[in-house]
Amino acid sequence: MPVGIDDLAIYVPKLYVDCNDFAKARGIDPHKLEYGIGIRKMAIVDVNQDPACMAANACLKLMEKNGLQPQDIGRMYVATESGLDESKAMNSFVIGMLEQVYGEGSFEHAGGIECKFACVSGSYALYDNANWIRAEENNGKAAVVIVSDIAKYDIGSTAEYTQGAGAVAMLIKENPRLLAFDQKVTSTIITNEYDFYRPFGKETPLVNGNYSNLLYLIQVRKAFDSYKEKALRYGLIDLKDGESITDHIDLISVHLPYGRMGEKALAYLLRHEWRNLPRWKEVIREVGIEEPTPRDPRGTIESILADTEFMKADEKFRKLFMQTALYHEAFEKKMASSLKASELIGNLYTASMYMGFRSSLEFEYKRGTDLNGKRVGFGSYGSGSSAMVFSGVIQPSYKEIVSAMNLEEEIGTRMKVSMDEYEGLHRGIGRGLFDSINHSNKEFVLIKIGGKLTKKAGLREYVYTT
Ligand code: HMG
Repeated sequence: MPVGIDDLAIYVPKLYVDCNDFAKARGIDPHKLEYGIGIRKMAIVDVNQDPACMAANACLKLMEKNGLQPQDIGRMYVATESGLDESKAMNSFVIGMLEQVYGEGSFEHAGGIECKFACVSGSYALYDNANWIRAEENNGKAAVVIVSDIAKYDIGSTAEYTQGAGAVAMLIKENPRLLAFDQKVTSTIITNEYDFYRPFGKETPLVNGNYSNLLYLIQVRKAFDSYKEKALRYGLIDLKDGESITDHIDLISVHLPYGRMGEKALAYLLRHEWRNLPRWKEVIREVGIEEPTPRDPRGTIESILADTEFMKADEKFRKLFMQTALYHEAFEKKMASSLKASELIGNLYTASMYMGFRSSLEFEYKRGTDLNGKRVGFGSYGSGSSAMVFSGVIQPSYKEIVSAMNLEEEIGTRMKVSMDEYEGLHRGIGRGLFDSINHSNKEFVLIKIGGKLTKKAGLREYVYTT
């Protein structure tokens, strides 16, 4: 029985920072942001928005567009790294909001938890819920997995231009219309790392940027190796001489902290996969230099980063590799369309890869690609750190869902904020909950947070605006 993603819905806050304004204010070349990072507009939340109301807004859209009632849903998981409470799970806030629309107690029969592992937890949530359905514990009901986050970094840091906000809600069912997960091949890797973390009470993370980039590449590659071993062992993919497993994966969606990272991840993976194949000769001929190797190929990430001679040579090689015809063809076919949403929204942490997947569906469809039967490979990464690689096949009925996708329309009319307004929102000064910049309509917003010294400390109240 195929199980997978039947449909998905997104919510993106209406405010954004234009990256030209941002570049000017920070004294950065705008080309660096557009091409070096891959960002044009960065979504930011208004004063009356948090990850829970973004999650509820995405879920309500998913339910409305599919005519779902609470009784149709047996489980609701929210994966986030922007938790609001050390104990109370985010999905309970979401249920509270949805019950304002569907009636008090209407979700009582359901279950679910909040999941945390930086950006990768949504993938674990999908995997667990797919298995809940495969185990027939679901009583004919569907699961909803929502990924929702606000990516917020320190003002003035080099991570500031990799912010963003938004949520994706996914309907997980048997016989899905959109994508059926491949079974027995999902692969994970996990280690204890401090590439990016946010200690209790701190609003912005501590991040070791270059270390996190390299760690991401290595972890996804390791999970991919394990995926490959399983895919061959279980006969999911049959490799002929001279082929790479990536030849059998039509679309690739990876975690997108920023668009350029997706390109780097694809380059890293293809170098790894093609290095021992006959086509590598053609690559080297076009690149014009041999692929460098680190002084200590078995060294740690620190020792590799400290090997400046290698790092420089490798960067040069990577950039030349990314200009080869073979890389370019693979990038255009498998990944380019997944980066379009990221450019307009920014990092969504847990939701980034799924927004990228949605983006590739819409833009591949719009350029006339027949998606039926196409295999999608996912490379999910969460700092701290864990990677999950899995795949699925697009189902014959995909057009029912994909033909109606329209990113700009679904985001809705957006408002550009000035750098002063952005910094005010970032620092949480100058505006109260009832003084939002955008006038919300038909969505959930936050109206009250119990004061620290009151009996209702931290209690959050939301309302559906009409
Ligand atoms: P940076 O200092 O901006 O890096 O930090 P850079 O100076 O190397 O520049 C970036 C790119 O811009 C380079 O291209 C430059 O050449 C290019 P690349 O070599 O990478 O191809 N560039 C230009 N391009 C055109 N015109 C110009 C120009 N100037 C330079 N004039 C960094 C970048 C990502 C490190 C920083 O923003 C950061 O720390 N971000 C946060 C951490 C992060 O996103 N890490 C990614 C991997 S870890 C991850 O994804 C997990 C995460 O999402 C958290 C989670 O799991 O929860 C973060």
